[in-house]
Amino acid sequence: MTGSRMRDICARGPVVPVLTVDDSARAEPLARALVEGGLRVIEVTLRTAAAIEAIGIIARQVPDAIVGAGTLRTPGDVSRAAAAGARFGVSPGLTPALLARAKALDLPFLPGVATPSEAMAAAEHGYRLLKFFPAESCGGAAALSAWASPLAGLEFCPTGGIGPHNASDYLRLANVTCIGGSWVAPPARIRAGDWSGIRKSAAAAAALGVAR
Ligand code: 3PG
Repeated sequence: MTGSRMRDICARGPVVPVLTVDDSARAEPLARALVEGGLRVIEVTLRTAAAIEAIGIIARQVPDAIVGAGTLRTPGDVSRAAAAGARFGVSPGLTPALLARAKALDLPFLPGVATPSEAMAAAEHGYRLLKFFPAESCGGAAALSAWASPLAGLEFCPTGGIGPHNASDYLRLANVTCIGGSWVAPPARIRAGDWSGIRKSAAAAAALGVAR
């Protein structure tokens, strides 16, 4: 099935830090802090000029990390991410062109949805694990709970507005495989090089999975 490798990756989470890296020199210590804290699956968003280089550095220098590329919006983004060494791709949405490129490159892919119709369209393409984005704005854990029966068989990685205050609301749902967010390593802490703080946040996030 199209999404089963993506499911294996997400299931290792269950928290996937969503990272915005301005300076590729930060990539290696950042990834090491996250892995040391217990989070191996990490998403570097293509929101900065440094992102592709950051993905390449993590892929080469931090083999214990499973690095993916996020904010993929065009087929070209998918290709650049895969070429840099990303082991999976994440998008805020889904388009036929994006899905086709991810399939052509055999890249595990997490397409984004915000409605049942989009989730059903993704399922038509063979994707059973979907990013629910922006989760809190789209009804949060209550919405995903309401989707469980009519969209049985689909699983979700909610992101957008999630943090320590509401993470467990999502993680307790049977149709949530993992959750994502920037709270573990927000851009300001990355810029400040606060690796010990990020390591502690990662450890707290990893513990959410143990408590599941
Ligand atoms: C994403 O791309 O998944 C979101 O930007 C993460 O949202 P957050 O910053 O609210 O965690």
